[in-house]
Amino acid sequence: MNIVKLRANLEKNLILHLDLISPNNEFKKIYTYALLPPGKLFRPLLALSIHLDFAHNNLEFFNPNEPVSLLASALEIHHAYTLIHDDLPSMDNDDYRRGKLSTHKKYGQWQAILAGDGLLNASYYLLSCIDSPQTPKIIKIISHFLGPKGLIDGQVIDLSENKKLFPHILKMHELKTSRLIQCAIMASYLLSTDKPNWRTFIDLLQLGKHLGIVFQFLDDLSELNCKKISKHESNINPWLNYLEPSYNYLQKSLDTIHHLTRKHHLDCFRSVINEYLHKNQKIISDGQLVIETHLKNQNILMPIMNRLDIISKA
Ligand code: IPE
Ligand code: IPE
Ligand code: MG
Ligand code: MG
Repeated sequence: MNIVKLRANLEKNLILHLDLISPNNEFKKIYTYALLPPGKLFRPLLALSIHLDFAHNNLEFFNPNEPVSLLASALEIHHAYTLIHDDLPSMDNDDYRRGKLSTHKKYGQWQAILAGDGLLNASYYLLSCIDSPQTPKIIKIISHFLGPKGLIDGQVIDLSENKKLFPHILKMHELKTSRLIQCAIMASYLLSTDKPNWRTFIDLLQLGKHLGIVFQFLDDLSELNCKKISKHESNINPWLNYLEPSYNYLQKSLDTIHHLTRKHHLDCFRSVINEYLHKNQKIISDGQLVIETHLKNQNILMPIMNRLDIISKA
């Protein structure tokens, strides 16, 4: 699987889908600003890789009208909405996103709120365009996973102003980060096989849960790569509050991912995760000195970096 080509294909389709959902007025530039250029496209790539693994084809080009292409854009558009809102002053109050001004900093707050609302709805519109008998089931699961009892509840826990116990941090990660990843994997599986297998379905949900937790642990670790840490960040960052348990849980999640990706022979899927883990290894080693200072010079970074090789090694 050529990740670079797939990413280029995803971006091309995303541009077409953005055209489809955008109004023909000035506001279109705000949707475009929040979506393009895209980030890592991690969730759409997971959806494509699950499709390549389970539909047993090795396509390098996905047409924009194909079910998995619509799913991929819907996931990225939904993701973009969560990020616009997440950066708002009343939430994380971040001025920058993907190396440029966050949407509210560039265009103003009401514009950012409405752009988020627009993209949220557009993501469901794209899902509804998927021509498959599985579409109603997929929309039902996604709206549940990303709604008030899912991703949104994770953001509620995140923003509630108190120090959290370690199990609450894990719950928060599972809700705010794993749920969207689980949607990518689970919906792509349902679209890629004629007879979904219940046991496989449960395994894939487990895989998505642990992948999200690893993803968020590494994202939280990379937050320590800068000198100044906000009060909110220090309240929710597991590495600052629960160093040993975080390391142990990261190991456990990596083991689960390793086991499940071997069990189901998810070759394409593994290469997407590998790319992510290697990128993080580099970020961690680049910021080693600053991160170690925040962790009070405890020797935890080497073992983490060694463990990030787990997926690629048989
Ligand atoms: C950022 O997600 C939000 C988190 C859940 C940590 P990504 O790291 O996937 O962001 P982009 O899309 O690549 O910028
Ligand atoms: C973002 O989490 C999760 C969602 C938007 C659902 P974070 O707030 O930890 O991610 P960054 O650091 O802003 O990307
Ligand atoms: Mg946040
Ligand atoms: Mg944030």
